[in-house]
Amino acid sequence: MPEKPIAYDAYETLAKKYAAQIDTKAYNAHYDRPAVLSLLPEVSGLQVLDAGCGPGAYAQWLVEQGATVTGVDASPQMVDFARQRVGPKGNFYQADLNQPLAFLADDSFDLIVSALTIHYITDLDRLFAEFARVLRPEGYFVFSTHHPFADLQNAAEGRYLDTVLVTETWNSFAGEPVEVSFYHRPLGAITESLASAGFIIERLIEPRPTERFREIDPAGYEKLMARPNFLAMRTRRDKMQPNTSKP
Ligand SMILES: C[S@@+](CC[C@H](N)C(=O)[O-])C[C@H]1O[C@@H](n2cnc3c(N)ncnc32)[C@H](O)[C@@H]1O
Repeated sequence: MPEKPIAYDAYETLAKKYAAQIDTKAYNAHYDRPAVLSLLPEVSGLQVLDAGCGPGAYAQWLVEQGATVTGVDASPQMVDFARQRVGPKGNFYQADLNQPLAFLADDSFDLIVSALTIHYITDLDRLFAEFARVLRPEGYFVFSTHHPFADLQNAAEGRYLDTVLVTETWNSFAGEPVEVSFYHRPLGAITESLASAGFIIERLIEPRPTERFREIDPAGYEKLMARPNFLAMRTRRDKMQPNTSKP
């Protein structure tokens, strides 16, 4: 890799614990995943790219539903965990989503799923253009990301409309605290990058933690109901030319 992605060290440090907790951790299992899965089309028979696949929880679900899955992640350990978890029904590659995905053919996917990953990518215009290239016309791109309002609340100072690199210390994985950097972007920066790449937004949801989340972590549930942490969208690749004009 030419330059290490901003979250590389954090996820290499976290990979083992992340993989061990991904099925049960409330923020993933009872907040992010139900929301993202609710946005997916029927996936049986589809060619799916899981971009930022982590330890393969989404990939496993997709394969179980009859999809053919290609997973990409920057973290070598995450890629290993995904391979172990999904087995030969998935193809997994270590790759940096900041770079062109030259090993993936044009128009080769029906669906791209990218959960909680795009906020680690430096240039969203480039990423989404690359997603548009590998996605067939009218293919789906479904993703979740940090809610831009949450970044603003968590930052000590900061202007909502700026795109800025934020560094947080995460204590939520047992063990030593881990510093994680990601980009805060205003909602409009995300939607404009989608438009530039020719994606049409079909749905934008502000997920709610599930009842199961409330049972496991009542205080966390109340916090998320007051201050949402994630949002999720279902978009489609427009079959018309991308509109590259920006206001
Ligand atoms: C919060 S985890 C989400 C994993 C998985 N999508 C899930 O929801 O279970 C974010 C993932 O993005 C990956 N990632 C971060 N920056 C990346 C980059 N530049 N290229 C590829 N993957 C990246 C991390 O290694 C990590 O596995």
